[in-house]
Amino acid sequence: MKPPIFSKQHEDRIFLWAHRGASACAPENTLAAFRLAEAQGADGVELDVHLSRDATPLVIHDDTLERTTNGRGAVADMGTRELRRLDAGRWFSPAFSREPIPLLVEVLEWAADRVALNLELKNRRTGEVVLRLLNDYPHCKVLVSSFDHRLLKTLRSAAPQLPLGFLCESRFWRLALRRAIAAGAHSLHPRQDLVSASLVRAVRDAGLAIYPWTVDETKRAGKLLRLGVDGLFTNQPGVLREKLESAGRLTIARHLLT
Ligand code: G3P
Ligand code: MG
Repeated sequence: MKPPIFSKQHEDRIFLWAHRGASACAPENTLAAFRLAEAQGADGVELDVHLSRDATPLVIHDDTLERTTNGRGAVADMGTRELRRLDAGRWFSPAFSREPIPLLVEVLEWAADRVALNLELKNRRTGEVVLRLLNDYPHCKVLVSSFDHRLLKTLRSAAPQLPLGFLCESRFWRLALRRAIAAGAHSLHPRQDLVSASLVRAVRDAGLAIYPWTVDETKRAGKLLRLGVDGLFTNQPGVLREKLESAGRLTIARHLLT
């Protein structure tokens, strides 16, 4: 496997992933949230991927439209053109009216080789299509993650070089770690409340990176940093960065984006 591009190289540096973009300040999973995340000093942006009816990868968290758009029904039941007409910003604030659901290709174009992207694949259908698209963007810094270890294994076979992350929200983290290792994952992404000293130690001993989600509280972030995590997912990269830096706990790891 190619050396991971997100790995921690210095003890005092961590990697800040903006969860669904800077989603505390802008509508999640929109280009507005991604641009803001970059402006706030995030090292990378996490986003969620679903396919439209015509198998185009789009960036949205839920498999239905109601919560974050003015549409109704399942994402997978609608064509790309219809989905693109929806408003994915107004639910958050009128200031973001007409913000569309991004196409994954738009986000890859935007991020280029500047901002790392963590593409979280929300179902198996997405795997093959996303891999095909990534072939056209070899300069992008992409980590693909999923809660589905079988999907990760399939991706690993098809793309031996692609950095993969296994998401874990079970307290049976030893099993999750075994699955992450079996899938050739670069990293384990546990829900933040599951993280303990023994978990961090085991992940690091296995040679994987560890990025817990989602951490907005400075105190909790500080505790996780002391345990030795490699990075964090946060909804507010700007606030967290500032608070941790002023507490002398964080040096943003921009240089890790080699
Ligand atoms: O990738 C970390 C996190 O996004 C996983 O959960 O539900 O926010 O996609 P969710
Ligand atoms: Mg996600």
